[in-house]
Amino acid sequence: MSEVLTIAMPKGRIFEEAADLLRKANFQLPQEFDDSRKLIVDVPEENIRFILAKPMDVATYVEYGVADLGIAGKDVLLEEERDVYEVLDLKISKCHLAVAGLANGQASEVAKKVATKYPNVASTYFRQQGEQVEIIPLNGSIELGPIIGLADRIVDIVSTGRTLIENGLVELEHIEDITSRLIVNPVSYRLKDERIDDMVNRLTTVVENM
Ligand code: PRP
Repeated sequence: MSEVLTIAMPKGRIFEEAADLLRKANFQLPQEFDDSRKLIVDVPEENIRFILAKPMDVATYVEYGVADLGIAGKDVLLEEERDVYEVLDLKISKCHLAVAGLANGQASEVAKKVATKYPNVASTYFRQQGEQVEIIPLNGSIELGPIIGLADRIVDIVSTGRTLIENGLVELEHIEDITSRLIVNPVSYRLKDERIDDMVNRLTTVVENM
């Protein structure tokens, strides 16, 4: 029997769509996979071990080789520039990165304050626009920034747009479309190429027929 394949799966929003994709690609995943609070789920029938991780941490597990593969948002990959191969656009969890601010807000003339969970993406974007900004890193609920006067702008993910609307913010600039990607550890790809290719091919077929 071939070696076990370890896959880092993101908990939260992406999980359901990612699990659905794996099932459509004919991977037999037990119900426990969706319902339990276990952080490691073994599927001996498939010789696969799943690590259930925070979405922001998936690429870390893959880069360090404790997971052979992972499913990660392009937003995280852009932010962290991890040493992993991005082998397939899974075309799930579609959203985009945007600049937003108060509907009637005036940004300061000198250096805008920008609150974000994506400090690298935000500073690269504003540098390319030739704008000088001060980046204020936050870990979540970024939309609070302009409302409570911490920042002039935010750089964040917009999915349905509901969070912006309900907090009186508007999208000002579209930065980049985002989807989830299948990522692979470079060493794993050499050592377990057949198993990884099989998984990539099965998922590619599903994605192309979505
Ligand atoms: C994300 C993002 C926005 C929201 C956008 O936050 O940071 O706040 O979702 O989604 P929407 O356009 O569908 O409203 P998340 O829920 O992941 O939590 P966080 O604020 O703690 O980062």
